[in-house]
Amino acid sequence: MAGDWTEELFIRHGDLYQVLLEGMFPRAEEETRGLARLLAGRGFGTGAAVLDLNCRIGRHAIHLARLGYRVVGVDMSPRYIQRAGQLAIEHGVAGDSEFLVADARKVGEALSGRKFDAVINMFTSLGYYDEETDRSIIRQCLGLVRSGGIFVLETGSRDSISRNFQPFGVFRVDDLLLLHEREFSLETSRMKTVWTFLETIDEGYRLSAEIHLNHRFYCLHELIRLFEEAGWHYRASYRDFEFREPSLDGNRLILVCQSP
Ligand SMILES: C[S@@+](CC[C@H](N)C(=O)[O-])C[C@H]1O[C@@H](n2cnc3c(N)ncnc32)[C@H](O)[C@@H]1O
Repeated sequence: MAGDWTEELFIRHGDLYQVLLEGMFPRAEEETRGLARLLAGRGFGTGAAVLDLNCRIGRHAIHLARLGYRVVGVDMSPRYIQRAGQLAIEHGVAGDSEFLVADARKVGEALSGRKFDAVINMFTSLGYYDEETDRSIIRQCLGLVRSGGIFVLETGSRDSISRNFQPFGVFRVDDLLLLHEREFSLETSRMKTVWTFLETIDEGYRLSAEIHLNHRFYCLHELIRLFEEAGWHYRASYRDFEFREPSLDGNRLILVCQSP
């Protein structure tokens, strides 16, 4: 079933994914400065309340808190939420940030009664389930923002992925080798990827895990429709946090929507 792989990758084998992405924490600082410029440009400067949906180890939430935002991060993986709490302490923002284990599919219930100025959803954290579930997640977020509040989505672009499709990929971080074997369906815009994690040992490699991802990628017009159907108003889109226009080759897509 779509989405089942998320528990395998982010919970059962969350340690492997964490090794892979731990190094991205410092890099998020610059991206977060761009994100803060975007938020401030829409009227949400220092002190605004931001929900980081699917925050992982809180790399954007913590940098936002360091800039003076009040942040709540939610993620389904207890390991990542625990690490986010540690990092918040290390960066001196434990008092301005809160990290909770919650399932995005029930985020309305998990944060019932809370209100935010903005929701951010970064690094391709939508599209893990079916389209109706994605719509439900962003509809629940609408109920969590004040009138005029915004949703900032940053995700992989379907246009660029299909134009620059790479069937294989190999990555290494320290002793961990990761192989990607990808298939992309033009009928469903879903990418099926087998992630094979291999640990380097004296005699060669040992298989640590094989996980089958199944991920929907959206074009810009599909995202606009999805958000509008969920009750948001589309406001702007960019290809990066320098706010350049989306393009067919830009592999990232940033969408800004606003609550009525
Ligand atoms: C690609 S990572 C991106 C994390 C983070 N936004 C970043 O930029 O580092 C996706 C995250 O979504 C979380 N996730 C996946 N499905 C979820 C769900 N149903 N509810 C809450 N979190 C979920 C995973 O645990 C993982 O941390």
